[in-house]
Amino acid sequence: MITNEIKEKIRAVVGPENALDSNLDLFGYSYDSSFIPLLPANKPDFVVRPLTTAEVAEVMKIAYANDIPVTPRGAASGRTGGSVPLAGGIALSLDRMTNVIELDEPNMMITVEPGVRTIDLYNLCAEKGLFYPPDPASWKFSTIGGNVAENAGGMRAVKYGVTTNYVMGLEVVLADGTILNTGGKALKNVTGYNLTSLFTGSEGTLGIITKIILRLIPMPKVRNTLQLMFPSLDEACSTIHKMLQSGVVPAAAELMDKIGLQAVARTRKLDIDPNTEACVVIEIDADDEAGLDKQAQQIDVIAHEFNVTEVRIAKSFQESEDIWAIRRGLSSAVGAMAPTRFGEDISVPRSEFPEMVRRIRKISEKHNLVIAVYGHAGDGNLHPSVLCDLTVPGEEERVHKAVDEIFAEALAVGGTLSGEHGIGITKRAYITDALGEAGVNALKAVKRAFDPKGLLNPGKIW
Ligand code: LAC
Ligand code: ZN
Repeated sequence: MITNEIKEKIRAVVGPENALDSNLDLFGYSYDSSFIPLLPANKPDFVVRPLTTAEVAEVMKIAYANDIPVTPRGAASGRTGGSVPLAGGIALSLDRMTNVIELDEPNMMITVEPGVRTIDLYNLCAEKGLFYPPDPASWKFSTIGGNVAENAGGMRAVKYGVTTNYVMGLEVVLADGTILNTGGKALKNVTGYNLTSLFTGSEGTLGIITKIILRLIPMPKVRNTLQLMFPSLDEACSTIHKMLQSGVVPAAAELMDKIGLQAVARTRKLDIDPNTEACVVIEIDADDEAGLDKQAQQIDVIAHEFNVTEVRIAKSFQESEDIWAIRRGLSSAVGAMAPTRFGEDISVPRSEFPEMVRRIRKISEKHNLVIAVYGHAGDGNLHPSVLCDLTVPGEEERVHKAVDEIFAEALAVGGTLSGEHGIGITKRAYITDALGEAGVNALKAVKRAFDPKGLLNPGKIW
């Protein structure tokens, strides 16, 4: 419990206007984008919005001394409940820490505070000809701190990797308020354990990330978007598979099935041929137009081997944006199709992607459930979304069986539970299946070392 005396101490640190405890405010910090049902038990007792690292450290010291749980929070765009408080205490919102501390052009690095929006960071770098590639679907509202905490992925992972591939160093406030710096701007660094990489993807369970140094790369000179329509899901998968085997490395290669496509068509008022069973969206980039044309041609030839029915090559920046808006709007459009959705995030070796999609189709037929299949086909990360109505008798049981089977099949083909959304609350029941007991024990030992009182984002990961 947070007493009034403790609240006063925290108000003195961050200012009374940044320490909230009205019922409405607490409700606003009790959910994220994970479709976890709204529960009164998930309300924090106090919302704290610090502005500086020093303030974060002071708040953590008070929380540590008084055994108060702390759940850090960015833009709450997470998909697994990472920022949903499970044990009351403080919801620590980093949304006011929005400074860009430095854009270091000679070293091609940027240092930012966690509350900077991902797209703003991208645009700022782009103005200088520099490229920050990770682009989670939520990048127009997600913040970089949340991206680092969850090790967010995105569309461009197939060519450029995910958040962790760009994090060079961090400033982290530990559970007891100690300020720790990891990594730095040296490109090569094997001085001790790689704590930067440990904190990246730690889901707020090991410390509060207050500063981030990111590596950038030169912005590709030209890029374009292709949209391909297919009469079957299998042919769409085969096209992506063959394209990757042929040495074409697209900047992004996204797949959506008919269910997803029609969901977006409904929300965006698009006219989609009812015979289209799958759509592939590809981004290509290159040094010059000739390089782009060559890749587009190669993709066109391969797609025709697999009976593509329409190849649309964007003719303007706006047309590219329109195609990407369809893809980025997919998750919410699919979610709106049923009272409940279980959105998964499995990731399999690229070569197994077509087979994994076939297995999901079988699971959907076996349990008579609608499962939309879409995701980052180029890197093997898939978001099967089970659409259901849990008030229908027997449906909940079938859904849980289907989800269990999806995870089991993903592991069976050498994949994993989560490619980019993390474990949070929604996947924690499966973590031992994925990591084994020894793996989970190793994680717990790390957790104990950094958070001996178990105050940081309690109830997450396992
Ligand atoms: C996407 C999010 C859900 O790919 O990861 O749309
Ligand atoms: Zn995704």
